[in-house]
Amino acid sequence: MVVRLARSADAGSIKALIDLYVPDGTLLPRTLEFVREHITDYLVATDDDVVLGCVHVEEYAPSLAEIRSLAVDPGAQGQGIGAALVRAAEALAERRDLATLFAVSNSEQFFRGLGYEPEHVPELDRERSEVSKYKGVYARAIRSRQ
Ligand SMILES: CC(C)(COP(=O)(O)OP(=O)(O)OC[C@H]1O[C@@H](n2cnc3c(N)ncnc32)[C@H](O)[C@@H]1OP(=O)(O)O)[C@@H](O)C(=O)NCCC(=O)NCCS
Repeated sequence: MVVRLARSADAGSIKALIDLYVPDGTLLPRTLEFVREHITDYLVATDDDVVLGCVHVEEYAPSLAEIRSLAVDPGAQGQGIGAALVRAAEALAERRDLATLFAVSNSEQFFRGLGYEPEHVPELDRERSEVSKYKGVYARAIRSRQ
């Protein structure tokens, strides 16, 4: 399994992974056009070039980025792929000089296990989506804010 930056050719696989978790409200839907437009902000976990997981690192505000659309194929869960994607998202955030990474999620134990703590993110517009306003916000410092 490798985690790498996504390429245009991965867009369809990324959308298909996200779509698995849209019906129950876990993830927000993404169009193929959206994924293609933002492909440089996605990471994928692959095995033999088959995409088994994805994550979108979205710059939300200066120095602040959100982990979005984190998804691992149901048949590949529990093998460390989700954790590897979060660690790769952190490395990407560091390379882009972002100070804080946060996630809006119901997967509290998963994020706490990776060092994320419930945190108030003032920049976050909690009303921006019907789905996200009922979830927890978990954040981790990538570097100290100046
Ligand atoms: C959440 C998700 C990304 C985790 O991916 P994964 O590859 O199964 O997770 P990992 O194998 O890397 O697990 C990392 C750790 O988190 C724990 N964990 C994983 N999923 C968990 C869950 N739902 N609840 C509690 N703990 C969980 C694992 O036990 C593991 O702990 P350990 O290191 O102590 O063994 C995956 O279950 C998924 O795609 N879920 C649907 C979409 C979703 O919920 N996305 C997050 C919203 S932003």
